[in-house]
Amino acid sequence: MSQQEASNKREGHTLLLGGLGGDSHSVGLTILRQSLAANGYQVRYLGTQNTLADFFQMASLTNLVMISSMDGHARYYLREFPALKRKFNTNGTLWYLGGNLAVSGGCERDFLEMGFNRVFMKFIELTTVLNTLEQDLEGVQAVANYPELWKQTLPAACHFTGVASDSLLERETFESRRREVLEHWRTGHDARNLAGNAQFLLRQPSFPRAQAQVTLDHGQILVQPRSGVATLDEQIKLFKNFKQAGVKVLSYQVDSLTRNNNYAGAEEAIRDSHLSGTSTINGFPVVNHGVSGLRQIAQQIRLPLQTRHSTRDPRLLAEISYAGGVTSFEGGAICYNIPYYKDYPLAESIRNWQYVDYLTGLHHKLFGIVLDREFFGTLTATLIPPCLAIVTNIIETLLAVRQGVKCVSLGYAEQGYRSQDIAAIRMMRKLTGEILGHMGYKDVQVNTVFHQYMAAFPLSLKRADELIQSSATTAACSGATRLIGKTPVEAFRIPTLTDNINGIELIQRGLAAASDCYVDETRVAEECAFIRREVEAIFESIVFCGNGDIAQGVVTGFEKGLIDIPFSPSVHNRGEVMTTRDLEGAVRFLSTGNLKLDRETREFHQDKVSERRKAEGIRSPHQDYVLVERDVMQVARCRYERWPLGQ
Ligand code: 5AD
Repeated sequence: MSQQEASNKREGHTLLLGGLGGDSHSVGLTILRQSLAANGYQVRYLGTQNTLADFFQMASLTNLVMISSMDGHARYYLREFPALKRKFNTNGTLWYLGGNLAVSGGCERDFLEMGFNRVFMKFIELTTVLNTLEQDLEGVQAVANYPELWKQTLPAACHFTGVASDSLLERETFESRRREVLEHWRTGHDARNLAGNAQFLLRQPSFPRAQAQVTLDHGQILVQPRSGVATLDEQIKLFKNFKQAGVKVLSYQVDSLTRNNNYAGAEEAIRDSHLSGTSTINGFPVVNHGVSGLRQIAQQIRLPLQTRHSTRDPRLLAEISYAGGVTSFEGGAICYNIPYYKDYPLAESIRNWQYVDYLTGLHHKLFGIVLDREFFGTLTATLIPPCLAIVTNIIETLLAVRQGVKCVSLGYAEQGYRSQDIAAIRMMRKLTGEILGHMGYKDVQVNTVFHQYMAAFPLSLKRADELIQSSATTAACSGATRLIGKTPVEAFRIPTLTDNINGIELIQRGLAAASDCYVDETRVAEECAFIRREVEAIFESIVFCGNGDIAQGVVTGFEKGLIDIPFSPSVHNRGEVMTTRDLEGAVRFLSTGNLKLDRETREFHQDKVSERRKAEGIRSPHQDYVLVERDVMQVARCRYERWPLGQ
C-alpha cells in the first residue's frame, strides 16, 4: 500500500507531540509534525520547552503522546513521570519517548519501566517511527476529535504589556533600569562606574579597529575560533594557544545556564568543574567570573574580545562584558529570541536589547569608545534563505543605530551553494549600507561575518575536514570581514584545543586556495538580484505595517507572518514558511507563507521546487516533508559528492 493510500484509510488517530525540557532544537520536531500530518494523523503540537504537566493535561484527549528530549537530560526531566501517570490515569493512551535521551550510555529499560511503551534513545529514521505507529495503533479506536476543547486547553502565549517603539531611550529610564539590572547578581556592582570602566576599555585592543583594517584597508579576513569552558584558568590557556596559532580576535561561548540567567546554577557548575578537573558546562560563565575575571583575560591575552551567547535577558551580561574590557557583543531582539525561546514576546526582547544598544552607544557618546554589536543572522541554522537572514540583520542594525551604536557586524551562515552564499554576504553589506544611508546614518561601520555551515555536521571526520576547508575558500571569495570557524569534531563534541587548532589549519588552507578559486560571477549577480528583490519586499512590508516604527513593525510583522523564520520553536513566529534545496543545492522557498514577495519571485521559487519534486519522485505537496528531511540530514549523512554542494 502506498503512503497516500495509507493516509486515506487511517481513521485519524490523535497524537500529542512536543519537546520536554529547556532545549530549543525544533528542526526534527517540525519535520516529524509534518510527516505525521501527511500520513493522516491528527497532530496536537506543543512545540518545544514543555513541562511534563503540559503533556499530562492533554494526554487523555489523545491516542498517543510523543515526547522528545534532546539535551541528554531526560532522566532528570522525567523524575515525576510515574507519579503523574498514576495521578492522571491515562490508561488508554500510549507513550513514546525519543530524541537524544542520555549524555552518555543508554538505559532504555529505565524509561520502559517508568511507563513508556516505546523508547528511542538516539536518532531514528522517520520511516521507523511511522511503521511503529502503524503497528501500535492497528485496531485501536481513534479518540473523538474535540477542536474547541483543545483550543481552550492550549496555554495562552505570554503577553508583554510594554509597547514596542524604536525611539531613543531616555537617559533617566536607562539609569533607573540600570540600577535594577546591576542587582541581578552580586558581580553586577563591579560594573557600576562607567567612567572607570571606560578608562580600562580605552586601553584595550578594539574589535571595531581590527575589523576596520579588513573592511576599510582590504586586510585578510579575520579567523575566529569558538571556545568556552567553566574556569578562568582553562579559558586563558585556550586563548593563549589560539593567539600563538595566529588568531587576531577572540571570543568565548557563554554556557547555557548563564544564557537562561541561572547564575546560581553556574556557580555550582564552576565549583564542580574545579573539583572534577574538567568543565561540566558547555561554555564560559561570564557573569559569575565577573569584571575582575574578564579583566584578567584582557590583561593576559591582549587581543580584541567578544561575548557570544543567546541569553534571554542579556543586560547584565553586556554590562559585565564591557566593564571587563570586551569590545564586541553579539545578539539581538530577533536573532536571540525567535531561534531559541518558545515564548519570549518580541516587545520584551526588543526592550532588553535596546538597553544593550543604548549602553553600547553611551560609551561612544560619553567617552568616544566605539563598540561592536553583532547579529546572529544564522537564526535556526537550517535552510535559511539569504533574504530572511539579511532582513533580520537590517532590522537589528536599525534598532541598534537608533540607540547610538556606531559599529555593527552582520552574520550569515553558509548554506552550501557557493554563488548564493557569496551573493548573500555581498548583498547583506550593500543593502544595509544603502538603507542606513537613506535614513541619514553616515558614520556606522558595517562588517560582515561568514559562519561556516551551522546545521548538522558530517559524521565523517574526513568530510568535515573537506567542508571546513572549502567553506573557508567561499568565505574569502565573498569578501566577508570575519569567518567564524567550525572544527572537524562538530558532530561529536565540544572541541578540545587540538580540535580547534586542526580547524584553524584547515581554514588557513582554504583561505590560501581562494586566489585560484573560480567564482561564477554571472550566477552571483543573478542571486544578488533575487536577494535584493526579496529583501526590499519583506523589509518594506515590515516598515509599512509598523507605520514607520521598526520596533512596532517587528512585533506586528511577526504576528502577521510578514517575516517568518523556518524551524523556529517560538509561538511568536508563524512557522508557515518552509524551505528546501533546488537541484543545484541553493536554498529556495517550498512555501512563502505570508511573506509579501512579488509574483515573479514566488514563481521562481515554485519552479525551482517543482523541478526538485519531479527529480525526486514527489507527486504531492503533502509529501514535501520528505524533501525537507532529506535536506536536513543530507550533510550529516554525507550524502553529497563534494563541498560546496554547488558552485
Ligand atoms: N566551545 C567551543 N565551541 C562551542 N560552540 C558552542 N559552545 C561551544 C564551546 N563551549 C560552537 C558549536 C555550536 C556553535 C553555536 O558554537 O560549534 O554549533
